[in-house]
Amino acid sequence: MNRMTLPATPFDGQRPGTSGLRKKVQVFQQPGYLEQFVQALFDVVGDARGKTLVLGGDGRYYNRVAIQTILRMAAAHGYARVLVGQDGIVSTPAMSAIIRRRGASGGIVLSASHNPGGAQGDFGIKYNVANGGPAPEAFTEAVYARTRELRQIHTIDSADLPLHALGTYRLLDTTVDIIDPVADYAAVQRGLFDFDAIRALFARGFRLRLDTMWAVGGPYAKALLEDELGAPPGTVVHAEPREDFGGLHPDPNPVNASELIAFMQSADAVDMAAATDGDADRNMIVGRNFVVSPSDSLAVLAAHATRIPGYARGLAGVARSMPTSTAVDRVARALGITCFETPTGWKFFGNLLDAGKVTLCGEESYGTGSDHIREKDGLWAVLFWLNLIAVTGESVESLVRGLWRAHGRCVYSRHDYEGIATERAEALMRELRAALPGLPGTHLAGEPVAIADDFAYTDPTDGSVTQHQGVRIILQSGSRVVLRLSGTGTEGATLRVYLERHEPDPARHDLPVQQALAPLAALAEQVARIRHWTGMEAPSVMT
Ligand code: G1P
Ligand code: ZN
Repeated sequence: MNRMTLPATPFDGQRPGTSGLRKKVQVFQQPGYLEQFVQALFDVVGDARGKTLVLGGDGRYYNRVAIQTILRMAAAHGYARVLVGQDGIVSTPAMSAIIRRRGASGGIVLSASHNPGGAQGDFGIKYNVANGGPAPEAFTEAVYARTRELRQIHTIDSADLPLHALGTYRLLDTTVDIIDPVADYAAVQRGLFDFDAIRALFARGFRLRLDTMWAVGGPYAKALLEDELGAPPGTVVHAEPREDFGGLHPDPNPVNASELIAFMQSADAVDMAAATDGDADRNMIVGRNFVVSPSDSLAVLAAHATRIPGYARGLAGVARSMPTSTAVDRVARALGITCFETPTGWKFFGNLLDAGKVTLCGEESYGTGSDHIREKDGLWAVLFWLNLIAVTGESVESLVRGLWRAHGRCVYSRHDYEGIATERAEALMRELRAALPGLPGTHLAGEPVAIADDFAYTDPTDGSVTQHQGVRIILQSGSRVVLRLSGTGTEGATLRVYLERHEPDPARHDLPVQQALAPLAALAEQVARIRHWTGMEAPSVMT
């Protein structure tokens, strides 16, 4: 086994987006492409002597190849220890749990989250720091800068290690442990929830269907729900991780999990259904004939948190990303706690969680989590709902209706326009930003505009400022439209339009959502000329 120094190949465009570097598999397969990014990452990490790195991914195509490459580079970089998930598997929330419990200095997750997999699909790499959370922007920007200047890749000439069985190996001075990717994660969940109550719920005949979408959530869900909590075999469906996610789009929303939604509307529907995404950090919760919006899910969890052992002390505060509905703000007000509003992306919650200012947080994009780790956590959300149902005796639907009765309903939808030419999407945002100063005081959708701005965030713990995080147009009543470009796509640009309107009147809570939001959709078209810039008559996805 020898050290080797290879010439680096400079590549453009290795700037991490909302959640790591994501590109088509073919881009990552270019010789030296992955190495360039990993070398930059290790250069920014610095001295690795005595440090532990965790490594794993969501099992998608290229996962195993990338793991072997990174193992050789980690050994050349001098890590004391690398912990690799068996079969190369580590979900995003499990990565966070393992880093924290094992005192690792960081971890590399190989995932493009909910983006499609397979040889024609997407691949991705992201780095989590010692608190278990995504690397902050200053770090990822430093990595990007380094990708543009480094000239040498350091690696070793060793053979591939077998990943399929637990074991310990030596690469130069580095110890490589192949670990059970579920154990640390399961231990964290056991410390939070009343497993006896959930076991009793299943023993009483409660029926759950969890669709892990042929992605990494399967092994975790089977171990906890079926093996430990007594849910009947078959509760977890599409449970075995596949390199191409069965050709499906592992994004838990009503469009991509349409089979599950149809099942929950059928005569065979079970008591509760849920789905998780490629790397198992997202979740969708579904009741019988009733889809829970992620913003409402966060609000329900916050409202009832003290009924869960891990949160019995109460919540320090809550946080949501700016485009997420204000349902949780209303719950926070009633509880007398602060609700923080952050830019899109989990990395902005990290400081608030570390500082103990926030216990629960979430995003409209099917992400919910807490201070138990520093990532969103799909199965955690499912366990939280199960625990709540077990101790309240209520159904999914009645818990959400209870929220609406107490606080009114935040009627909410996100409209995505995908695959727009990047220049046109940028032109749309430019024109929209230029129009903002003229909007306050004018009437839109029959109401005066109260605020029209480009969201900027000052982190209350370190004072860092993040600008241009999405255009908000807020009307006098609080109804609002938010527009921003996605930071996770790999083809062209995606425009996201978020619509929210508060409905206090229970008689109107069941009006069709898109109908209730039509005036706000028209407002978005009027101010942003979406049809003109995108050439699209309607959004490609509505959730
Ligand atoms: C999307 C979601 C965002 C989430 C991110 C990673 O980012 O909107 O809430 O944190 O994926 O899962 P976007 O594509 O909008 O930049
Ligand atoms: Zn994900």
